[in-house]
Amino acid sequence: MLRAIPLLPLLVNTAWGFRPCPKHCQCYESSDLVDCRSRGLLRVPNSVPHGTWLLDLSGNQLAEVCTRSFMGLWSLKILIMSNNSIQTLQSQSLSSLQFLERLDLSLNQLRWLPLDFSQSLSSLQELRLDHNLLEHLNSSSLGDFENLKKLNLSYNLIQTMDAGVFSGLSRLILLSLEGNKLKVLKEGLLNRQTNLEVLLLDHNNISVIEPKALAPLRSLTLLGLQGNHLVHIRFKTFLKLQTTNTHLQLSLNPWTCDCELHRVFSKIWHVRHLQVGDYKEILCHAPAQLAGVALSSVDSHLCIAETATVLAIIVTVMLAVIGALLKAEHNRKNKQGSSESESERQEK
Ligand SMILES: *[C@@H]1O[C@H](CO)[C@@H](O)[C@H](O)[C@H]1NC(C)=O
Ligand SMILES: *[C@@H]1O[C@H](CO)[C@@H](O)[C@H](O)[C@H]1NC(C)=O
Ligand SMILES: *[C@@H]1O[C@H](CO)[C@@H](O)[C@H](O)[C@H]1NC(C)=O
Ligand SMILES: *[C@@H]1O[C@H](CO)[C@@H](O)[C@H](O)[C@H]1NC(C)=O
Repeated sequence: MLRAIPLLPLLVNTAWGFRPCPKHCQCYESSDLVDCRSRGLLRVPNSVPHGTWLLDLSGNQLAEVCTRSFMGLWSLKILIMSNNSIQTLQSQSLSSLQFLERLDLSLNQLRWLPLDFSQSLSSLQELRLDHNLLEHLNSSSLGDFENLKKLNLSYNLIQTMDAGVFSGLSRLILLSLEGNKLKVLKEGLLNRQTNLEVLLLDHNNISVIEPKALAPLRSLTLLGLQGNHLVHIRFKTFLKLQTTNTHLQLSLNPWTCDCELHRVFSKIWHVRHLQVGDYKEILCHAPAQLAGVALSSVDSHLCIAETATVLAIIVTVMLAVIGALLKAEHNRKNKQGSSESESERQEK
């Protein structure tokens, strides 16, 4: 009786029209894993067993994923296609993967995503698209990822994104856009990301963060902005972050170290839920005489010139007042003196 049990899955598979393991791949039937890593495959094999739970196609030479490549793989939860040469995902190439939870398309050559990319992937929780050639994100491509929690878009060539590109992704917890070509962090872009905990924007070319761009991020714990083109920031932009505890990373930017910048950082420092984690590594880029100097080593001096100017004005005003008082006193005495001598004269 006990000995018959291991045979059971085989019998069931046969009954359901069992497909043999694809040529060149290795199948681990008891756990429904299909390993096709680095087998020189040029296309997605078409005989993957229907019960497959994980399919690993990484390190092959796939150039295209055709319509209906994964037909019938209803059980697939994890699909890995990283490190191929994929340039094109045909429309409906991923349809029938309604239960897919993780999709890895990193290290490919995708320049764009099909407009129906997210349509049949409503269970997807984790998507890797890092190290591709994407330049623009169209809102239709990502619109239906309603369960997506982690999205990695790092190391692409993204310059522009539709305003509503993330508006369907309200469950997002982690968004990585590191190593792209973004210039402005726009208001409205992250309006639905109230659950976002980690936002990585390091190594772009961001010089502007629009005033309310960060306001919706109520759960943010980490904001990476290292290696951008920030010269100055406004305190209000960060004050809008109504979180419980957020780490900001702001080094490797061409900061202009002046009194204003020092004031912004000291105000941030006084907000209990905000921390600049890499404050010690922030270097000045301008003015020229401070280039390369750590902001933390000069911050207390940056407002001295300004303080000195204010002091000079105060001293000047005070001197003028004192001068005027002295003059008035002097005039009063003179008048008194002359009137006294006049009365003396009259008495004689
Ligand atoms: C990519 O795939 C090739 C070929 O299988 C392999 O030699 C290489 O180590 C892989 N690279 C990465 C980063 O996984
Ligand atoms: C996004 O795709 C739609 C449909 O093809 C198109 O009309 C629109 O212009 C695209 N948006 C951008 C900014 O490319
Ligand atoms: C995103 O992808 C980059 C590049 O492959 C990797 O270094 C990073 O760890 C990934 N981030 C997350 C949060 O998975
Ligand atoms: C980054 O942006 C600044 C201005 O915001 C511009 O002067 C510079 O050329 C940009 N750098 C790159 C590599 O695009």
